Amino acid sequence: MLEVAGLEAGYGRARVLFGVSLEVRAGELAVLAGPNGAGKSTTLKSIMGLIRSSAGTVRFSGDRIDGLPPFEIARRGLGYVPEDRRIFPGLSVAENLEVGRIPGGRAGAWTPERVAALFPALAALRERSGGSLSGGEQQMLAIARTLMGNPAALLLDEPSEGLAPRVVADMERAIVEMKASGLAILLCEQNLAFARRVADRAYLLEQGQVRFAGAASELGEYLFP
Ligand SMILES: Nc1ncnc2c1ncn2[C@@H]1O[C@H](COP(=O)(O)OP(=O)(O)OP(=O)(O)O)[C@@H](O)[C@H]1O
Ligand SMILES: [Mg+2]
Repeated sequence: MLEVAGLEAGYGRARVLFGVSLEVRAGELAVLAGPNGAGKSTTLKSIMGLIRSSAGTVRFSGDRIDGLPPFEIARRGLGYVPEDRRIFPGLSVAENLEVGRIPGGRAGAWTPERVAALFPALAALRERSGGSLSGGEQQMLAIARTLMGNPAALLLDEPSEGLAPRVVADMERAIVEMKASGLAILLCEQNLAFARRVADRAYLLEQGQVRFAGAASELGEYLFP
């Protein structure tokens, strides 16, 4: 479904990714693990066309998408939830969800009711402003908003980061449910215990290179500092 081959990218003259290759098959959850600064977020930004890659290819549903603008990549069904969430603080939860609709995008079954069923904590917060939500609630809203665009695949950048353990458990359950609904997911994660529980396939990224690729069950229990 998503195939990245030989991706090289960076910021200005600073190269960050050195030939990253990975794949996420339909209905599968792949984890991209690695320590701070390894290049996980840069990989997702390059896939989404938010930074231009200097080499390599990205295929989505069989088509080349590298070089396309981000809105076109999103319109084709690749959803992205950035690390910094980008909730609109002055809009209500319901309005933030509406922003996630993609005119001319894929048809699909995600509605405000269905995302509220996935994240029950959001259901009671419909009229609250985005800025008044807790970190965990904002993370749920960011994912829910992306689902409103009916993606076929989802890029999630460290959704469990900074969340209380109980909220991490809710997030884990939601991720498992999204996968069960048929979404292919590429999940960046530093918490390997979390990654091993939810992922099928795993990649370990260090200093912009894939050091390990294999079954998620083969990832060590090591938690990055
Ligand atoms: N906007 C930017 N401009 C310049 N350098 C950047 C920028 N964003 C990231 N970098 C650098 O690129 C490298 C990879 O960063 P990246 O954010 O992709 O890592 P990461 O694996 O997502 O780390 P983290 O776990 O901390 O989120 C780091 O050395 C970082 O300092
Ligand atoms: Mg990151």
